[in-house]
Amino acid sequence: MNLQDKASLLSGRDFWSTEPVGGVRSAVLSDGPHGVRRQKAQADHVGIHESLPATCFPPAVAVGSSWDPSVAGRLAAAVATEARALDVQVNLGPGVNIKRSPLCGRNFEYYSEDPLLTGVLATAHVKALQAEGVGASVKHFAANNQESGRMRISAEIDERTLREIYLPAFERVVKQAGPATVMAAYNKINGVYASQHPWLLTQVLRDEWGFDGVVVSDWGAVNDRVAALKAGLDLEMPGNPANDAKIVQAVLSGELDEADVDRSVSRVRTMTERWRPEAAAFDADAHHALARELAGECAVLLKNSHDVLPVEADVRTIAVVGPFATSPRYQGGGSSHITPTRVDIPLEEIRKLAGDRVITTDPDGADLAIVFTGPADADESEGYDRASLDLPAEQIELILATARAARRTVVVLSNGGVVSLEGWHDEVDAILEGWLLGQAGGGAIADLLFGVTAPSGRLAETIPLRLQDTASYLNFPGEQDHVRYGEGVMIGYRYHESAERPVRYPFGHGLTYTRFEVGDLKVAATGDDTAHVSVVVTNTGERYGKHVVQLYVATQAGPVRRPVRELRAFTKVALEPGRSSTVAFDLDARAFAYWDVAQGRWLVAPGDYAIQIGENASAIVAEEILKLAGEVIARELSLDSSVGEWFGHPVVGPVLMRHIAATMTEEQQAVAAEHEDLLKMIESLPMHQFLSPLGVRLPDEAVRDMIELSRTHQ
Ligand code: BGC
Repeated sequence: MNLQDKASLLSGRDFWSTEPVGGVRSAVLSDGPHGVRRQKAQADHVGIHESLPATCFPPAVAVGSSWDPSVAGRLAAAVATEARALDVQVNLGPGVNIKRSPLCGRNFEYYSEDPLLTGVLATAHVKALQAEGVGASVKHFAANNQESGRMRISAEIDERTLREIYLPAFERVVKQAGPATVMAAYNKINGVYASQHPWLLTQVLRDEWGFDGVVVSDWGAVNDRVAALKAGLDLEMPGNPANDAKIVQAVLSGELDEADVDRSVSRVRTMTERWRPEAAAFDADAHHALARELAGECAVLLKNSHDVLPVEADVRTIAVVGPFATSPRYQGGGSSHITPTRVDIPLEEIRKLAGDRVITTDPDGADLAIVFTGPADADESEGYDRASLDLPAEQIELILATARAARRTVVVLSNGGVVSLEGWHDEVDAILEGWLLGQAGGGAIADLLFGVTAPSGRLAETIPLRLQDTASYLNFPGEQDHVRYGEGVMIGYRYHESAERPVRYPFGHGLTYTRFEVGDLKVAATGDDTAHVSVVVTNTGERYGKHVVQLYVATQAGPVRRPVRELRAFTKVALEPGRSSTVAFDLDARAFAYWDVAQGRWLVAPGDYAIQIGENASAIVAEEILKLAGEVIARELSLDSSVGEWFGHPVVGPVLMRHIAATMTEEQQAVAAEHEDLLKMIESLPMHQFLSPLGVRLPDEAVRDMIELSRTHQ
């Protein structure tokens, strides 16, 4: 290939495919991720033009609530089959950005406010998709947590927050599933476009995590093509001949090394060769049935007073009201929008399961009213953020009027982002949070209402009482092209639990039609920074059901402020009534680690770690304390180090104590011992202030020796 050919391979041929050049075949990259959006005629990436029919599976907001990697995996395997049928080699997803604010317009495309839950589900998705020979594109790398100003906003984030919250899901997918591509986001991170960020795209992604696939730009995310290539962005999408010419020019002028071009060419070539599965046909009926089954795993039963659900035999007349009963909302707007093969209508699905009951639209005289409601389609989409958490006023009025008229009222919500339940929550008997469940959501909801299936979803994001109670409230969506992640690692439940802010429903909450108990928690260290945990879960109710065992770690060990607790493991167990099962977890060092900015790495501090089993993030039902040896960090000392750091140094501290004691009379020592608060007053002083005429005088040689001692004990 000549230089011109090489450059042309590094941007698309058109909107969705790569350039066939020099014997390298073209590959089609297409959205994603909860179905295949394959456009054959006019192309766009905002969901305007038609795409070929494909099964619309539950979007990520729903899959997040399944807390079940097999749901993500089965969905992705089916999407892969459809991709093969529609001649797509790379399906653009999953989206693994963290839900920083409930207002983010694209939250329906993301799994959770928690990086572990997000990472586990996304890893299952990528593994299953790629096992069928279709490549994945993990997106949007990174810190793309809002739509406001999305193409140029600079996300200002400290490194610990990036490492602990916004990068781990990408890291897990890259290390455990080896995605074909990673998609560079539109936004800047700390002033540098993600698409031309050498630290992000090369140092972290490739050097630290070992990524060997293609970095592809989000559609239109490249600003300076040469800088992007140097930083590690291989493929620009869509096609951009002007930028190809800039690559050629930069090599000819010596600004760009041709070896950089060759490296990206080789990666794109490998991608087009490796991800080329055989064509397949797909069974639309079978996939619709699968979409219904998976959707049933995702809905969350938030409230169920008087056990109003499942619908009992003595309920004779059911009123079905609300706009979404007949025209359901089941996916969000923008580039992920799928043209479904068919759509279940909730009212029709209810009729099928209602037997000889009377179905009406009049809540008056009804034993039970079911209200299908949520924000309008136009309220939630890619491209803009939401203005508020409230349901439209007329929908709230409909809920209240129905609740006044019917004997019992159930609300079924369809929404891509969290909506406020305030103002009507206490007036209704049950709330089923349906999120956006895909094309078979109507059938799945009918199954859940009538007890054909049991709800088993758990909240993957907190439902706050007020928007003002959310951690990013004052810093979202930023101003003048900057958004400061001032809340740091304290987002979602990490914030609500740490600041003791009450919420309507906590992260991890979800009810079902039976009861579970967990007990016999056993915890044992298996090394300095690893542990084995087991717990017994029992179905103590009368019906079959599924329970999500949630393991949180709580600690204040180490020099940084830790969230009150963090999710570190989970699993979903299915049990018949009366049956028990032992669930075991092996916790690795990352379950206990924080990112130490001084050391530039993960660190497990020595100390106590509470292993907590939670019903959800705020209801802990079992706890054991684990002591970990961790890693004692002896930092090199200097005269600028603080007095506290000198005394706290594991080797130098005792030596310093002896030196100081030697300079004091017995009387002075007694006074010092009586005034423990003295150390508190001086511990933040730099050592050179302490070793002054106002403090203590130690021989210069002794001080030099101690500094040397700290250097040799790092
Ligand atoms: C979106 C991506 C999508 C791409 C292609 C962009 O606007 O941010 O998620 O994959 O378009 O449609």
